[in-house]
Amino acid sequence: MNEVACAQQESSRSNSDRVYRGSAHGKIILMGEHSAVYAKPAIVLPLSEASITATVTDMETECLDSSGVRLDCEYYVGKLSKAPENLRNIQELVVVLRNDFSIDGGISISITSSIPRERGMGSSAAVAVAIIRACAAYAHYSLTPDELFHYTQISENIAHAHASGMDAVAVSAESAIWFQQGEEVSTLHFSTPAVLVAADTGVTGATKEAVSDVHRLLYEDDDVVRNRAHRDIERLADLSIAAKRALQENDMTSLGAHMNEAQEILSTLTVSSGELDSLIQTARGAGALGAKLTGGGRGGCMIALARDKAHAHSIITALESAGAVRTWTVNLTSPSK
Ligand code: MEV
Repeated sequence: MNEVACAQQESSRSNSDRVYRGSAHGKIILMGEHSAVYAKPAIVLPLSEASITATVTDMETECLDSSGVRLDCEYYVGKLSKAPENLRNIQELVVVLRNDFSIDGGISISITSSIPRERGMGSSAAVAVAIIRACAAYAHYSLTPDELFHYTQISENIAHAHASGMDAVAVSAESAIWFQQGEEVSTLHFSTPAVLVAADTGVTGATKEAVSDVHRLLYEDDDVVRNRAHRDIERLADLSIAAKRALQENDMTSLGAHMNEAQEILSTLTVSSGELDSLIQTARGAGALGAKLTGGGRGGCMIALARDKAHAHSIITALESAGAVRTWTVNLTSPSK
């Protein structure tokens, strides 16, 4: 079958074709990015407004090479084995899934996403979770949460060096979580009228590089630099604990102050950027109780704490005038026990 016939096969699927889907949503780190890599606690919220769906269907093997998989996503359409380097995490993940789930025939995987890529919103983990769930459904394989985490981390450890596992857990969590590598994940319960505003700088973040650079600071020969980086990571851990308490006591003034302090530390650790700093200043100028970057940094998204919905709207207006390309809101309410 030639390329045209293969493309036609893709576009003329009938209802009788086997179609299996998996999905996952985005995430917003309220506190604890970077320190999470060193087994410190973090608070992460689901971003259900943004999600990824993967669809798996059968595909004629004549359309495929030895990889047996055709991929169709915003950045690439074609044989998985020929995908560009920035999709290597998906390539390697799918090889493992085909083997472990005994998927022998040809398959097509298509991805649709409303999570912006490389913006600290968990798109790499969400695409992995969506693919794993869709492949498991296709193979009638019953996945345990531990297996889902294990397979997601295969992809995450390629996408970001030293992934803590926080994104892998957060993109399928249904409510706010307290995450600490190696510990049981727990659900957080709080109810406040406050709203988090997230805004995209429009600039691609660089999580892998930022994580490596923080690691380098922690292993610097220079005692002053190294000791300061260690103190910064410890302070970020304390701030996650203080933020959890502030949330549970509905003390938004303290939560905002903790967010501002975390941003100072993340800047010292070199993971902020001019664009993030500028949106953070804009949000504070619009009365945000606190503002910081979220995710890996060096671009990507920032978050700001608004007193309520009306306040969130005025912060969003200010952020959009200052160049934010997209905004989201997340209520700071996490279902009761
Ligand atoms: C990335 O979303 C969060 C980081 O802390 C990396 C990680 O925890 O794997 C920067």
